Amino acid sequence: MKITFGKIILTDFHIFALRFEFEQEALEKMTFEKNILCIGAGYVGGPTLAMIAYKCPRYKVTVVDINPTRIAQWNSNELPIYEPGLEEIVKTRRGKNLFFSTEIEKGIKEADIIFVSVNTPTKTFGAGAGMAADLQYWEKTARQIRENSESDKIIVEKSTLPVKTALAMKRILTSTDDDIHYHVLSNPEFLAEGTAVRDLENPDRVLIGSSETPGGLKARDELVEIYANWVPEEKIITSNIWSSELSKLVSNAFLAQRISSINAISALCEKTDADIVEVARAVGMDSRLGNKFLNASVGFGGSCFKKDILNLVYLCRYYGLEDVAEYWKGVVNINEYQKERFVLNMLGAMFNTLAGKKICLFGFAFKADTGDTRESPAIFISKRLMEERAELVISDPKALNNAMMDLEGLEGKVSYVEDPYKAAVDCDAIAVMTEWDLYTGLDYEKIYRSMAKPCFVFDGRNVLDHERLFEIGFNVFPIGKPARTHFN
Ligand code: NAD
Ligand code: UGA
Repeated sequence: MKITFGKIILTDFHIFALRFEFEQEALEKMTFEKNILCIGAGYVGGPTLAMIAYKCPRYKVTVVDINPTRIAQWNSNELPIYEPGLEEIVKTRRGKNLFFSTEIEKGIKEADIIFVSVNTPTKTFGAGAGMAADLQYWEKTARQIRENSESDKIIVEKSTLPVKTALAMKRILTSTDDDIHYHVLSNPEFLAEGTAVRDLENPDRVLIGSSETPGGLKARDELVEIYANWVPEEKIITSNIWSSELSKLVSNAFLAQRISSINAISALCEKTDADIVEVARAVGMDSRLGNKFLNASVGFGGSCFKKDILNLVYLCRYYGLEDVAEYWKGVVNINEYQKERFVLNMLGAMFNTLAGKKICLFGFAFKADTGDTRESPAIFISKRLMEERAELVISDPKALNNAMMDLEGLEGKVSYVEDPYKAAVDCDAIAVMTEWDLYTGLDYEKIYRSMAKPCFVFDGRNVLDHERLFEIGFNVFPIGKPARTHFN
């Protein structure tokens, strides 16, 4: 296209350049209804704030992090985390009302509402080591907010924190005598990895805890208003701030408890010829119990279950509730037992020696549809198999880079092969660690032909067709079901 004004001729290129400049200017001048900041651009901060930006184009949403590589990835075509549906949402809003930046101080100055979504791992040193939450990142953030704020702010605890943390947050924020007012809210996140976008778009509930003061209630209503842009009102529940903080720990503890319960029973099934899938179906059809989270497995993983239960255990001990602490500690103990049991079953089935045997792990992520390997049972299993001097071939469609980092420096032979057919060649056994759909649709006859004999499958997720594998020639060891072997 060409436009002529007297002697001036505008080509397509000129029109494009002018339009770009107008748009940039309009964006800068555009006044957003709210300025929302999130500190911590991780698995929670990134997706959660991307969803807010997506559902509320009237708000400016900025996500900041101390890690410049992570921010660069959020601004690139290769997002730092794999989560189905996330890329589309980020690409739709990025540069419009969703921004990723390392300018934390600037972000704090401009924000009306600040979500804090930094990591809260288990403490590895000093008092409470191995149990309590390490609050150093969270406290650093609180101080940074205080030092850089020039106006009143609502602070939203998004990270999972010990109950009563909001009190400490308030004390840090109000420890200088400037005239700035802060209202601290608790708004724990319940998303699960692999389904984060679905969970954020259609949550079972959004929980907001606040103090009962007029200022606290006003702040609470502001946060309710944000979620009400897409979440039905009856699903947005409010509570006092301590109930909210505690509910997050308890939700994770209950979920993990169900897995440990079914896994404990899987051990009994293996001794009695009962079938854990049949037991879970019978139990789960009781509407009082429900049928979710009853899949027996090699053990639960993920960055939060273990850490949050240990945090709960630590809190109980801190308040002198030793029996309550022991009860919840049992959930973690059974999980450790289940992982060790899996290795011992492999050892027993393969004639009590794994030395020099080649074992292929199908999956390394802690669950399907994520590349995350934090606390993945595959890490423990790999280490134990390497202690037994087995050679490992690790296969996973999304988690191989993380797997390499997890196993770096360990003594032993390990290789990483994405294609499961190539990974299984010459192996003595396959152990399924992650329930990726991919593994159910493979040509196991072809795989069987390429492997060393006798051939074993240890299905740590009960996702394969065990009868069919047995017919092909595999010796099959599911979880909580009778083994199928060709030995007398
Ligand atoms: P993560 O490690 O993926 O992300 C945390 C981010 O915070 C990191 O990128 C880190 O660089 C950044 N950070 C740390 N200190 C900072 C500071 N002072 N300033 C700026 N950035 C800083 O962690 P995550 O998985 O997103 O978890 C965050 C919190 O959410 C944890 O408390 C976790 O328990 C909770 N949670 C996680 C999930 C999940 O599925 N991962 C779900 C619900 C709740
Ligand atoms: C879990 C909770 O489900 C979320 O609600 C919570 O927000 C989150 O922790 C958190 O606080 O970090 P996530 O760890 O991402 O989410 O994934 P889950 O689906 O809960 O799975 C956790 C582990 O349990 C996985 O290793 C999974 O394979 C295992 N699992 C799950 C089983 O072994 N059996 C089941 O029946 C279900």
